[in-house]
Amino acid sequence: MEAQMQASETRSSAQGEPILSVRAVQKTYKLGRVKVPVLHGIDLDVHQGEWVTILGASGSGKSTLLHLLGGLDCPDKNSKSPASVKYQDRELTRLSKRALDRYRADDVGFVFQFYHLLPELSVLQNVTIGGMIKYGRFGYRSHRKEVVDRASSLLDRFGLSHRLKHRPAELSGGERQRVAIARALINEPSLLLADEPTGNLDVKTGASILDVIIELRRDAGLTLVMVTHDERIAEKSDRVIRLVDGRVHEA
Ligand SMILES: Nc1ncnc2c1ncn2[C@@H]1O[C@H](COP(=O)(O)OP(=O)(O)O)[C@@H](O)[C@H]1O
Ligand SMILES: [Mg+2]
Repeated sequence: MEAQMQASETRSSAQGEPILSVRAVQKTYKLGRVKVPVLHGIDLDVHQGEWVTILGASGSGKSTLLHLLGGLDCPDKNSKSPASVKYQDRELTRLSKRALDRYRADDVGFVFQFYHLLPELSVLQNVTIGGMIKYGRFGYRSHRKEVVDRASSLLDRFGLSHRLKHRPAELSGGERQRVAIARALINEPSLLLADEPTGNLDVKTGASILDVIIELRRDAGLTLVMVTHDERIAEKSDRVIRLVDGRVHEA
């Protein structure tokens, strides 16, 4: 493990500037008047092309952290120690709503444990919708063919070309998650955030989904931050961090 850590440090320093850099991030949920503090000062650097796994007990804030990285939520505002979430040259905590929408649509792919597919849309539509969001209602017209072609080719690659017109309810869990991964990749993101992507699947299906993610990461040079409970998956990644008491512990 020590050798592994040294290797990871060497790799990190060789990669220069991190692509994603988190400093002093705190997050407190408010339930009426009750405050639920979850993250107590997260510092984290992720380098281009790196695969970082986040482990931690249930309720330790893993999903919360992933949402903050993906611009789905914002850290607490704390004037004494201002939070920073930087992706490439953008400080997410200071982006306008529009620029944050852009970041989510163009740079990030998100995969959830429970797929989050839209039940009334077909498989193909569930994937192309990301392109619609990216280009907007009017811009989409001129990009439609390219988006549909890309969606079809991703779904084909994931062995789902015979399922394009099916609804999510007609698919198995593994098939749904492959659709969700295709959706996450439709806009060619540089950062893939995956929240327990195999957590709801049997071992064999989970392993095949993981193979898909590993292959994609290699081919597309994606930076990958993945939450998992599975230590065997964690072992395959470049670096493992653990969330304990709202802080990052390098494993
Ligand atoms: N929207 C929310 N409102 C209030 N509390 C929340 C909300 N989301 C998560 N929490 C609480 O924050 C803590 C961390 O949640 P989460 O980030 O989902 O943990 P994990 O993904 O590690 O299981 C939990 O105690 C959870 O109940
Ligand atoms: Mg979670």
